[in-house]
Amino acid sequence: MTVVAIDGPAGAGKSSVARGVAQELGFTYLDTGAMYRSVALAAAEREADPAEVARSLQMQVGERIVVDGRDVTQQIRAPEVSEAASRIAADPEVREAVVAQQRRLLQDGDWVAEGRDIGTVVAPEAEVKVFLTAEPQERARRRAAELGLDPARVLAEQTIRDERDRTREHSPLEPAPGAVVLDSTHMTLADVVQRIAGLVPGTRR
Ligand code: DC
Repeated sequence: MTVVAIDGPAGAGKSSVARGVAQELGFTYLDTGAMYRSVALAAAEREADPAEVARSLQMQVGERIVVDGRDVTQQIRAPEVSEAASRIAADPEVREAVVAQQRRLLQDGDWVAEGRDIGTVVAPEAEVKVFLTAEPQERARRRAAELGLDPARVLAEQTIRDERDRTREHSPLEPAPGAVVLDSTHMTLADVVQRIAGLVPGTRR
C-alpha cells in the first residue's frame, strides 16, 4: 500500500496533477475536496447541521462524485458550493467525520490523495508528501479559465478562502513535515507530474 499525498491551495493544479500522477503510476485518485463540497451541498439542500450530514452521508468519490445515489459532479463545482465548503471545512466535527471516511478508503490499495491536510492529518505516514503551490494570480487565472469566470472575481474570492483555509484553528493549510514543496507557476503540468511520480519509491525513473 502506497499513498502519495498532494496538498496545497486552490488553483495550484492539485487535481490535474494528482490525476496525472495516479494515471502514470496506476494508482487510484482521491479528491478529498469533493467530499467537503458534497457535505456542504447536502447540508445546504437539507438545511441540516453539516457535522450531522458529514457523519451519515454516503459518498462515492471516483471519476463521478455520487452522493446518496445522486451524481453531483457538476453541482459541487459551483462558486456558492466552494464558499460553503470552505466554511464547513473549518468545523472540527465535520473534519473528524470526513477524515475518518478518508482514512478508511486509504487503508487498502495505492492512492494519490489530494487536499489540504493529507500529509499533515489524514495520512501522515504517506510515502510521498508534496505541497503544491503557485502564485495567487496564476492560480486565479487557471481557475477562471477552467470555470469560465472573471479572473478578478476569482482572485478576490480565492484570497478570502485561502486566508480562511490557512488561518483556521483546525488543520490549517500548511506543508507537512518532510513535504517536498513545489511551485508550479512556471512549470507545465507534464513536468509537475513527472517530478512527483519520480519521488515514488520503486518506480523506474
Ligand atoms: O480542493 P477544493 O477546492 O475542492 O476544496 C474545497 C474546500 O474544502 C476548500 O475550501 C478547502 C477544503 N478542504 C479541506 O479543508 N481539506 C481537504 N483535505 C480538502 C479540502
